[in-house]
Amino acid sequence: MSQRFVAQSEMPADAPRHVAIVMDGNGRWATARGLPRPAGHHAGVEAVRRTVEAAPALGIKTLTLFAFSADNWRRPATEVAALMALLRRFVRAETARLAEAGARLTVMGRRDRLPAGLAAEIAAAELATSGGTALDLRVALDYSARDAIVDAAMRAAAQGPLTREKFAQLLAGGDGSGEPVPDVDLLIRTGGEQRLSDFLLWECAYAELLFVPRLWPDFSAEDLAAAVAWFAVRERRFGGLGAADAQEPAAAVSSAA
Ligand code: IPE
Ligand code: IPE
Ligand code: MG
Repeated sequence: MSQRFVAQSEMPADAPRHVAIVMDGNGRWATARGLPRPAGHHAGVEAVRRTVEAAPALGIKTLTLFAFSADNWRRPATEVAALMALLRRFVRAETARLAEAGARLTVMGRRDRLPAGLAAEIAAAELATSGGTALDLRVALDYSARDAIVDAAMRAAAQGPLTREKFAQLLAGGDGSGEPVPDVDLLIRTGGEQRLSDFLLWECAYAELLFVPRLWPDFSAEDLAAAVAWFAVRERRFGGLGAADAQEPAAAVSSAA
């Protein structure tokens, strides 16, 4: 992992600050090679390493990776066990490297259904990397966006008046008082499917969506750079007229937009 700290001034001005990735296609990658599906997950870990390493220099400050959905428990027990073992190995092997590279790891999703001991290892890795400022690396594990929204709504109910920003903070797992997690700028899904599969439904309200046919284990630093370059030439209008926006909006614009 690169230890180079990327200064704010070096970052491309029109880079996507928050990139989210649905890392799909591991099973097909393995099947195409006559290998068992877990071999694809294994190869996918290398793509995670490449992506995390390449992200800061491309101007990405927050990277959210979909590693295991709440619906992935539907898969055969052997595949789930292989995935959990890989995740545990990733946490053990990568924590020191992430800390060195200045990446702060946080894991989103439920922890009460994970194999024994994994939640504690995750908490230790989060603590060990908590000082990182080069990259906010969020890994979604046993994650469902709809469950996360319901959970945040229940916590919000106890807190009185609510703004979009505060709700976004609750959604990110905090108590509503911490640093806000920015909306997703660019969502990439590998593997060719064009769906969200219950990932970051709130946070992607104005995300640019990029669906690429490449299977996740084949995803390279160049693919990430190409995605960032594609993003850079999008015209994001947020409901206005973009570059041709009137100087004064005609009517009230939602304060938290
Ligand atoms: C994504 O790859 C990884 C997880 C969902 C855990 P898949 O395992 O879904 O691969 P395909 O879509 O079957 O090829
Ligand atoms: C989404 O991929 C979840 C992850 C990549 C972790 P899936 O392969 O589970 O999604 P569907 O089943 O094709 O919608
Ligand atoms: Mg899939």
